[in-house]
Amino acid sequence: MTPDVTAAPAAAPETLDVALGERSYGIHIGPGLLASAGQAIAPLLRRPRVAVVTETRVAALHRAALEAGLAAGGIDCDVLELPPGEATKCWARLEETVEWLIARKVGRDDVVVAFGGGVIGDLAGFAAAILRRGVRFVQIPTTLLAQVDSSVGGKTGINSPQGKNLVGAFHQPSLVLADIDLLGTLAPRDYLAGYAEVAKYGLLGDAAFFRWLEANGARAAQGDLAARIHAVRRSCEMKAEIVARDETEQGDRALLNLGHTFGHALEAATGYSDRLLHGEGVSIGCLLAFEASAALGLCSQEAPSRVAAHFSAMGMRTTLADIPGDLPDADGLMELMTQDKKVKDGRIVFVLARDIGEAFVCRDAELSVVRRVLADGLRLRRD
Ligand code: GLY
Repeated sequence: MTPDVTAAPAAAPETLDVALGERSYGIHIGPGLLASAGQAIAPLLRRPRVAVVTETRVAALHRAALEAGLAAGGIDCDVLELPPGEATKCWARLEETVEWLIARKVGRDDVVVAFGGGVIGDLAGFAAAILRRGVRFVQIPTTLLAQVDSSVGGKTGINSPQGKNLVGAFHQPSLVLADIDLLGTLAPRDYLAGYAEVAKYGLLGDAAFFRWLEANGARAAQGDLAARIHAVRRSCEMKAEIVARDETEQGDRALLNLGHTFGHALEAATGYSDRLLHGEGVSIGCLLAFEASAALGLCSQEAPSRVAAHFSAMGMRTTLADIPGDLPDADGLMELMTQDKKVKDGRIVFVLARDIGEAFVCRDAELSVVRRVLADGLRLRRD
């Protein structure tokens, strides 16, 4: 449990374990991890060479540091630079990546390094999953969102023209290196988008962590190293615990989708474009999930008010009014939610809450109430 404190513990690199039997792996969290990447990865290798998949924006900022860190551990690398952005998570880029790996003779004994945010982690992880029926890979996440969510837990894949993440595989990484220094080069908008996933952990299962974020989230956003480490560590700890209990999302892992049923519909409605980042969909979605929970009589109105207050204080996108451009009406958004993966037996699966830190999976939410919450949110855009 997160201690109910207002000060973060001192900064120190540390390792968490994702306990999955023979597929267990460590998550290293701390500053300076690029510089020691070679030392961390070397024990996994049979030959001192890795294939790095990254994107051009990350490469411009950090490729030289990663290459130097690998070289310091005696490791050479080939590097594939893909274009940045969600559009890269597609069949064509998957084919390009797999063919590039084959051309470099990456084999079952080798290691692929996914060096980037969620898009690169998902795509490179999936390429590793299907290459020669499964090659090991290491995640070096460069965004807050990837450090606290997508790099941990083995969900890999690409988007289909028919929907997000519809093609993929569970393929656990062999190691995750979350270098907190890399967060220093994120644009504030990207940092806050990732912070939505951090807040999600408090909201879904740890009220004390949410209280800690209320007191320290701004300090972390301003760059305080100890606060950032604590935020990433507690998030990864919670994710590791949930994934160890339910690796393939038969039960509890669905709690990690808090805010995502609404968020994915909003991302679809905005064409997966720069109008709304994934994490922004999650922050607005988390608040909608709490408002729906209050409207359904599951929690008090105080809970969504507190979520809204913290998200606004952080400068995050909070309501449907924060999304620029046109949106479908409430029926249109409901329809988009029925197309999401989170539909079971024709019913939309929501993650709702009895209070902050007490989320649960709900398969029979009264849809007319959810629709009313969306209609109320859309009305705010017009007023
Ligand atoms: N991002 C949700 C999960 O990994 O299950």
